Amino acid sequence: MNQNFAVAVDGPAGSGKSTAAKEVARRLGILYIDTGAMYRTLGYACIQQGVNPACEAEVASVLEKMDMQICPQAGGQRMLLDGEDITAAIRTEEIGKAASVVGAYRKVREKMVEIQQALAKENSVIMDGRDIGTKVLPEAQVKIYLDASMEERTKRRVGELQKQGKHPDEALVRKEMEERDYQDTHRKYSPLRKAEDAVMIDTTGMDIAAVTEAMLSVIAKQIK
Ligand code: DC
Repeated sequence: MNQNFAVAVDGPAGSGKSTAAKEVARRLGILYIDTGAMYRTLGYACIQQGVNPACEAEVASVLEKMDMQICPQAGGQRMLLDGEDITAAIRTEEIGKAASVVGAYRKVREKMVEIQQALAKENSVIMDGRDIGTKVLPEAQVKIYLDASMEERTKRRVGELQKQGKHPDEALVRKEMEERDYQDTHRKYSPLRKAEDAVMIDTTGMDIAAVTEAMLSVIAKQIK
């Protein structure tokens, strides 16, 4: 394979993106970049500072002042906010929701996209998010769009929460996921959608190993 190639992976929450993309990165020896973690970091900073994510001007001020560091590593990616490791703290539904709200603002997207494009310029990457194939890396050699049925995505999220020792209400998890989908697909700037040249993989009924193999097979076909 040539150096500095890019694999763009998009899809809604619970489609299996991040776990499979992380494994693909390990197998190919390239960097995995989780762009959702960047929007989550801003959402976290807002909540920590008592800023309502719905207030665009205040969010812009948090964005300007925050020191966000993305540390791609073998087992995943660590996020630092003003020097503090917040990798685990940003994995809550509350922060996911805040990330989705702040991710709708043009200023926020411009800044995040600039950082993401710089990372892809310097490294071969597999990058996952909502707008990677359409906006961040429109020239990526490989574009994959992952999806799964709402039932399956809800089941996966419930399973993840149970693993964290929580007792989620399935109907609520589903409702929150539907709301986040709506928000991410209907925003004005870079809404979630499949790039025309992306290969769609429906991961319903597939485990992570199967999703990983399917992605590797798409990559092998497109990168000679
Ligand atoms: O992938 P995730 O669930 O960690 O992402 C959290 C939110 O961040 C998602 O609901 C919308 C936003 N996001 C975005 O707007 N653009 C991206 N490239 C990635 C995430």
